[in-house]
Amino acid sequence: MILGIRLLAVLRRIGVESHLVVSRSAEVTLAHETDMKVAELRALADVSYAAADIGAAIASGSFRAMGMIVAPCSVRTMSEIATGVTSTLLTRAADVTLKERRPLVLMVRETPLHLGHLRTMTQLAEMGAVIAPPVPAFYSRPKTIDDLVDHAVGRALDLFGLDAGIVRRWGEPAPAEVLET
Ligand SMILES: Cc1cc2nc3c(=O)[nH]c(=O)nc-3n(C[C@H](O)[C@H](O)[C@H](O)COP(=O)(O)O)c2cc1C
Repeated sequence: MILGIRLLAVLRRIGVESHLVVSRSAEVTLAHETDMKVAELRALADVSYAAADIGAAIASGSFRAMGMIVAPCSVRTMSEIATGVTSTLLTRAADVTLKERRPLVLMVRETPLHLGHLRTMTQLAEMGAVIAPPVPAFYSRPKTIDDLVDHAVGRALDLFGLDAGIVRRWGEPAPAEVLET
């Protein structure tokens, strides 16, 4: 859940308006993985919707958005988006993102993957989605979990042409190395 939390914080810092949908399961997972309350999570976004609010603005392609990131994305949500049988605002908005040919980035959190998962991912990639599991990038020499999270979130934002300055890019010296030279 820290991925979604950090993503919202970064979007606010770089001045990108955010619209948030939190699934019921994500609310449960938030309590398992953090000390944050759902209201605090929602307060990080500019606009927040109930997952059942299928009539919300983001359910329509006429709503102008840069795209959508599902962070993190469960196998259930991934599979629902792949089928097009979208039962919540979360998956409906993702479906709309695909039909409008806008970037849809799915930070899938599951491992290992069985053949069905992989087939679903292939189907989504063929439909234009970007499957971006938050795999740690050790070349960035992360020192903390925050470093890993920042890198994953920053690389997801790269897909939208947004540079929040939180990715240590390949070949760039670490901050310590910069100080040493
Ligand atoms: C603490 C917790 C962690 C979970 N982690 C995962 C996970 O990593 N990947 C996954 O696909 N499902 C995971 N699940 C199960 C999903 O929450 C479950 O499949 C749910 O139906 C997903 O619903 P959603 O896609 O509407 O959020 C987890 C559940 C809990 C309570």
